[in-house]
Parts: sequence; C-alpha cells; structure tokens
Amino acid sequence: MPEFNEADLQQKAKDHLWMHFTRQSVMEDGHGVPIIVRGEGHHIYDSKGNKYFDGLSGLFVVNAGHGRKRLAEVAAKQAEELAFFPLWSYAHPNAIELADRLAGYAPGDLNRVFFSTGGGEAVETAFKLAKQYWKLQGRHTKHKVISRAVAYHGTPQGALAITGIPGMKEMFEPLVPGGFRVPNTNYYRAEEMGFHGTEEEFGLWAANRIEEMILFEGPETVAAVFLEPVQNSGGCFPPPPGYFKRVREICDEYDVLLVSDEVICAFGRLGHMFACDAYDYIPDMITCAKGMTSGYSPIGATIVSDRIYEPFKHGATAFYHGYTFGGHPVSAAVALENLNIFEEEKINEHVRENSPKFRAALERLLDLPIVGDVRGDGYFFGIELVKNKVTKQTFNDDESERLLRGFLSKALFDAGLYCRADDRGDPVIQLAPPLTIGPAEFDEIESILRTVLTEAWSRL
Ligand SMILES: Cc1ncc(COP(=O)(O)O)c(C=O)c1O
Repeated sequence: MPEFNEADLQQKAKDHLWMHFTRQSVMEDGHGVPIIVRGEGHHIYDSKGNKYFDGLSGLFVVNAGHGRKRLAEVAAKQAEELAFFPLWSYAHPNAIELADRLAGYAPGDLNRVFFSTGGGEAVETAFKLAKQYWKLQGRHTKHKVISRAVAYHGTPQGALAITGIPGMKEMFEPLVPGGFRVPNTNYYRAEEMGFHGTEEEFGLWAANRIEEMILFEGPETVAAVFLEPVQNSGGCFPPPPGYFKRVREICDEYDVLLVSDEVICAFGRLGHMFACDAYDYIPDMITCAKGMTSGYSPIGATIVSDRIYEPFKHGATAFYHGYTFGGHPVSAAVALENLNIFEEEKINEHVRENSPKFRAALERLLDLPIVGDVRGDGYFFGIELVKNKVTKQTFNDDESERLLRGFLSKALFDAGLYCRADDRGDPVIQLAPPLTIGPAEFDEIESILRTVLTEAWSRL
C-alpha cells in the first residue's frame, strides 16, 4: 500500500479543498478530515491504516463492492483504445451497447437512453425533456413538476426546483419556477400529516395528494411527477401498498409524465436492475446513475419511453441538450462489465433473498429506547431516532445538532462503521452497504449500531 503523509495531506486539504455539502469550519478548526485511501470488498481504509465497514457504499454507489480488478482493467483498456469521444452527432460502441443493455432491462417500452455524467444531470434532462415533449404536442403550458416533501433530486437549478428540502434551496432562490411539493410516504409520521388509518389506506391517501396538486395547479400546466421508488432523504420511505398503482392511474388520467428517479434505487439496491419492477409500475422515464458502474467511473442516464421519444424522430426536431462527458467511453465500458458481474454473481437474487434477514437484524435494535422506526427495502434501510418512542417525539434542532453532528457520525466512524446520520428530515441513520454482504455482516452492523446508539442515549 502506498505511504501517505497524513500531515501534508491535511494541510493541503485545509488550504485548498472545498468539500461538498460540508461545513468548511471542520477544516478550519484543525480537526482534519478522514482521508480514505483504499477499498476492498465492503471495507474502506483511511490514510492512517484504519479499516471501516462501508455501510453506505460510498454514497449509495459501490454496489458490487470495492477493489474489483476487472472493472479497473476494463477502464484502462478502454482508455488506451479510445479515451474519449462525445455523443454529439457521433457514437462509440460502448454507448451503443450500454443503451441497448439498459433498454433491455427497463420495463415496458422504455427503449431510448440519453446519457449524462451523474444523477442530477439525469433529473435535469428528464425535466427539460418533459417540457419539450409537451410543447411538441402543442400543449405549451404544461411545464410544472411535482415531487415529494424532503425528497432529494440533485443540485442543478432545475433538479433543485424538484428537490423538496427548503434548507438546500433558499440560498439559491429564485430557482426554476414550477416546482410543487406533495406529502411523502412516511407512514411512521402519517398522523402528523393528518392521516389516520392502515398502511394500504395511507398509500391511496398519499397518491391522491398528487391528484389534488394536479387539480390545484390545473392539469394543463403540469408536465411531470418525479418520485423515487423508495425515497432516500428523510430516511427510507418505501411506497405503501397500492401507492404506485394509483399514481400511475392519476398520471394517465391527467396526461402527466411519471419519472421514476432511481439514482439510488436502481442496479440492485432493491434487488432489481430497475426498482420500478420491485413495485410493479411502468414509468414514462427512469433516471439513474450511481450504481450503474458501481462507482468505478461516473455516468448517468435518462431512459425514455417510445411515446416520449416519438416526436423527436422526425424532421428538424432535436433535443438541444447534452454533456461533453455524457456516456463517456470509459464509463460505458465499466458499466457494461459491472452489469456482467451483476448477472454472473446473481446480485439481484442475492439481495432479494437476503433483504428480509438484513431487516430482521436491524429490527432487533427496536428494543433500544432511541430507535423509533426501522424501514426500507432491499439493501437500503433507515433507522429513525426518537426522544420518546411512545409519543414519537423527535429531537429539537439543538439536540439533533449535538446528537448527530456532535456525537453519532464520529462515534459510528470511530467504531468502524461508515454510514450516514442525516437530519434533512427527522434524525435517521441510513444504511446502504455493498450488495455482496450477507447475514454475518448484518450482525456486525447491528452490533456496532447497538453499542453506539446505547452510548448516544446515555448522553442525552
Ligand atoms: C434520488 C436522487 N436523485 C438525484 C441525485 C443527484 O445525483 P448526483 O449527485 O449524481 O448528481 C441523487 C443523489 O444522491 C439522488 O439520490
């Protein structure tokens, strides 16, 4: 392993590196940042030689696990052969093969693939495409987009208009106009949204809020609804039974496009190549990125139905949109090889078989006074932390700050588990480990969480 000069790296980071979504004051106060230097399987190593369990696959990315030599080799081979060529009027074999492969995995008639370099760009692409599609139909006023409270859909200004987290938007206002929010599917907190009833009834109720918003705004003004199969931000909200069936009906009734934002959920996270298959709905577009290459090279894609693509087939019509690095030859080669690994190792089947065991291991934590809810699907779970289990009372801003930032994130990391303590909604711990792990590792995660959460409770 190469040697790292820790002090030198920390100084350079302090002087020059601007981290993402991070208070730079952590640099300024001299504590330094964790510097991750290597990955192997479901483990990562820092510059001081410490080993950690990667409980978040980097950032919901390294689905096939770290250290896969064949993905590195395929990238090197492609870079030697053709390092770069754009998809602007030209093509290259890997982009063609990957588009064919993705269309084959996608449900229904989602047959057309527009590449980007990441998730936010894929969402931005879907937003622009929805607007132009309706204009090409002569329905010029259909431009608004609906998404759910606390949902994260990326940072470009269009995607940010779809993102439902006010604290990430207000400093950049005004954004692209036309973004509207409906309730999410947090059944644990459904009563706070004014709903009382069964989970099935909640599914219908939550879906009908989309219809209500379409009617409030006027169906002739609404272009698309953006939904994640399982909403990440807020802490893993799976769809209640019947939710997507009703959403699909509503979208069909009012001519509104349904975009399945699968930037996290695709490529095995829920045990399917595309997560809409897990919940049996066919969207009009899928946005995806992260796990497509398991992170060995960046890529994103917007996959579109024949119906949306149809008007673009003719005459002088074009989609004036693109990215220099969209569908990059190296990334596309890596994606194809990553998908080969998925097939050969039956990763989706492995996730589907083991997900109930993962859930059961995490549900053991419900005996702790601080654990209010365990929810999620596939290899994607959130653990909501509460101050009072009976009343579901959550932590105030000050307590959240002390608990999550002041203690939990660091304590979990020090205990050898890299995961995420998030307070974009109520405080949650998020887990999305590499899809290769099994029951022994579920127990390991549970044991670390138990120790650290017990300590957290005693400090409150
Ligand atoms: C659902 C969803 N959409 C979009 C994005 C943005 O993706 P990226 O960070 O690759 O731009 C993310 C990122 O986590 C996401 O989770």
